Amino acid sequence: MAHEILVLHGPNLNLLGTREPEVYGSETLERIDAAITAEATALGASVRCLQSNHEGVLVDAVQESADWASGILINPGALTHYSIALRDAIAGVQLPTVEVHLSNVYSREEFRHKSVVAPVCVGQIAGFGSLSYLLGLRGLLQRVAE
Ligand code: DQA
Repeated sequence: MAHEILVLHGPNLNLLGTREPEVYGSETLERIDAAITAEATALGASVRCLQSNHEGVLVDAVQESADWASGILINPGALTHYSIALRDAIAGVQLPTVEVHLSNVYSREEFRHKSVVAPVCVGQIAGFGSLSYLLGLRGLLQRVAE
């Protein structure tokens, strides 16, 4: 059976394209989702993509994915740095999860150096712009297949 992956984008990622393009690039989220979908198809998998500015909506999506997903690809946005609720949801469903960031969070402000989500993920990719999602998807599907 083909693997289905939940792709989550956190707060403010709906603004991609116009939001700080010097940091995040000029691609829109719609284009990024299209590229992720195409990559998944090429790798024999499928994705369901969701963006929300609300922590609880993301927590609900993680919980519900336990019923159907093989893994989670997530850019938690700023929630990366402080959302214990999101971290606990990921730990709770026990689905392999990969954390991705467009920017290299480690070369930016110190408050971005800490991820509370990373310890419950199988890996993290940061700094490659929208390619971070595609690299993360590859790694995740590899892990799911093992
Ligand atoms: C981000 C990095 C976060 O620190 C920031 O809050 C974001 C985007 C990234 O993709 O580089 O919203 O997750």
